[in-house]
Amino acid sequence: MIGNASAAPSPGRLQGRTVLLTGASRGIGRAIALRFAAEGAALCLVARGADSLERVRAEAAALGAPAAVHAADLARREQVQAAFDAAIAAFGRVDVLVNNAGIYHAAPLVDTTPEDFDRVLQVNVYGAFHLMQLALRHMQARGSGKVVNIASTAGKWGSLNQSAYNASKHALVGLTRCAALEAAARGVQVNAICPGFVQTDMLDEFRAHAAILGVPFEQVLQAGLARVPQRRFLQPEEVANLALYLASAESDGMTGQSLLLDGGMLMV
Ligand SMILES: NC(=O)c1ccc[n+]([C@@H]2O[C@H](COP(=O)([O-])OP(=O)(O)OC[C@H]3O[C@@H](n4cnc5c(N)ncnc54)[C@H](OP(=O)(O)O)[C@@H]3O)[C@@H](O)[C@H]2O)c1
Repeated sequence: MIGNASAAPSPGRLQGRTVLLTGASRGIGRAIALRFAAEGAALCLVARGADSLERVRAEAAALGAPAAVHAADLARREQVQAAFDAAIAAFGRVDVLVNNAGIYHAAPLVDTTPEDFDRVLQVNVYGAFHLMQLALRHMQARGSGKVVNIASTAGKWGSLNQSAYNASKHALVGLTRCAALEAAARGVQVNAICPGFVQTDMLDEFRAHAAILGVPFEQVLQAGLARVPQRRFLQPEEVANLALYLASAESDGMTGQSLLLDGGMLMV
């Protein structure tokens, strides 16, 4: 028989699952929240902005999802712990952790201050590291769980004027592999998504990159698009679709992967 109907995706792919999602207040995080809400997940939404989190919570609730919000700065370890505790207090467990929160910084390496470098790593790496520690202890004890890290094509190659950001995303890809190896026999899968250019507020950060190069912002965007065989920016919902797969039972056989989702930009 070719094909297996029982393996086909069905509605409610996250029914009964509790998800802790960071960077949930806008962009890719908001899209993941709404996609997961439509598939039956209960959500604990984390970011710094309480008002924008509340707007996403209301949108998720309109789709029928039980949703809690917790405002936290993930660069602060004690706030990471409080965010994890909030998810446990709201729903009693965490089945899926999505480390999506991230920040960007544009500067040549020689002009990147230790403070700039530290700030990017605190959010993009340490925030994810602390949450993975908490979640993996919890998931491994229960014998099941999923971690989805939102890395970047910047975790796979070099880019001009973004050494802190690229270092952070390479670190996240490395953490994904190591955590996956340690958790593999304990029922927990750890994977990452490496998006290319996605149409969110973060693209606006390329204004600083354009200023360093001394060219118009639009020219930087066009040069970026020229590197994408599909000649388009991705939409946040496309990242959410892959995150859904990695969070659901459909991907149970996959772990330690960092999947490119980039319109064909890096064919490695
Ligand atoms: N857009 C792209 O082209 C692209 C490409 C590849 C990878 N990515 C990655 O995708 C992820 C989401 O990016 P996006 O494009 O959706 O960016 P975005 O629109 O700028 O959203 C970033 C999210 O992270 C949260 N955040 C930032 N700093 C935080 C902190 N210290 N503590 C807690 N939350 C924090 C923000 O909320 P608050 O400001 O309210 O805290 C927001 O919800 C990031 O990890 C990014 O690196 C994006």
